[in-house]
Amino acid sequence: MDSAESAGGRLGAVLSAPRAGVVALGDRGPWLATTPAQARQVLTDVAHFDFPADVSRSGDLSASRGETRSGHLLFEPLTPDQVARGVATFARLWPESVAAHDRDAPGEPYDAMRLLRRPVARSTCDALLDHASEQQRDTVADGVLAWIDALAPVISAARAPRRWSRVRRDEREARHDLEDALAQVDGLPGTPQQAATMLAAGIQVPIAAGSWLLAWLGSHPSYDVEPAHAAWETLRLTPPTWITARLTTTDVELGGARLAAGSVVLVSPLLLGRLAELVPGDPDGLAGFDPDRWQDETRRPGAWLPFGAGPHACPGRNLGMAVLVHLAGWATTHRVRLAREVKIDQSRGLAPLPCRFTTAVGGGGSR
Ligand code: HEM
Repeated sequence: MDSAESAGGRLGAVLSAPRAGVVALGDRGPWLATTPAQARQVLTDVAHFDFPADVSRSGDLSASRGETRSGHLLFEPLTPDQVARGVATFARLWPESVAAHDRDAPGEPYDAMRLLRRPVARSTCDALLDHASEQQRDTVADGVLAWIDALAPVISAARAPRRWSRVRRDEREARHDLEDALAQVDGLPGTPQQAATMLAAGIQVPIAAGSWLLAWLGSHPSYDVEPAHAAWETLRLTPPTWITARLTTTDVELGGARLAAGSVVLVSPLLLGRLAELVPGDPDGLAGFDPDRWQDETRRPGAWLPFGAGPHACPGRNLGMAVLVHLAGWATTHRVRLAREVKIDQSRGLAPLPCRFTTAVGGGGSR
């Protein structure tokens, strides 16, 4: 597997930044918080560090004119019932997705990012859309996946695409189709626009996280591993939301530096997950996948903030973890193995490109 440590682009710049104080990544920022205390300050002090308005381009706010989302809706954390419903759907649909591949492409390696789409989309829809019919959930799940696909070229474009460009129009159309489908559903979490945002966040990120989990376990095939430890270790080494951005609303002090109003400040769970103070085990081995390190209970898994922190922390974290733990259990009993070298796709969060794997137990033509 390609390692984050040898990656170029923004990932390389963040990982090679000095790990003290707040660091300017360019002449005039963005600024990078490099300690857990600074990261917490940025994520919890929403009066001074606000959400950028254009979240679709988070991490690259070079075109930002300083608009923030102050005063917008906070999402309620999922209830235990919602989590139970979501993970039950995932547990039912994941083997179906694997079996469909065995039918359609026997002997071909599985593609994690593809296989996970429907089980994750339906799992999140079932968790959130209590009052929707089966058919509505199917329509909405397909609509979210179509919107996520249409958003990809908007996010990964080197420069923000123009308002009337083809990619913007396709994205708008997909978003409107989804919002129309959501408008038919009773008891939505918020308006159709807000529900669409929540569903997209709750589907795109777990698909990438699940794919990374299979990639890590597939490159350590004989691992007799505790599923929760494998899930945490995956979220430590390759958190899909590896960087998040805030804009300062006023002049503010951070880590001894004075930042002007309108500065972009970045927090990176991926960087924090490589700090020896937060992670047990040999400080020289922190770039390696070692789920057993979490048997040492002197450090709390998640202290590197793979689900964020503060009022905008992930409301779906319990469902995300439950799905990953389920998938890790499946991967170890089926002896997942990587079939191809994995590269790191940084175009939109972090995703494995591709994660093609086989299983030694149970999979049709996949041996
Ligand atoms: C392993 C799976 C997941 C990971 C690693 C993850 C990670 C994150 C992170 C890091 C944030 C904070 C981003 C920021 O501060 O800018 C976030 C926010 C969010 N997540 Fe998740 N997430 C996961 C699963 C889910 C699920 C299952 C749902 C919904 C059911 C969900 C819904 C959301 C929403 C709506 C937000 C935005 C919160 C806000 O803006 O106030 N996530 N997630």
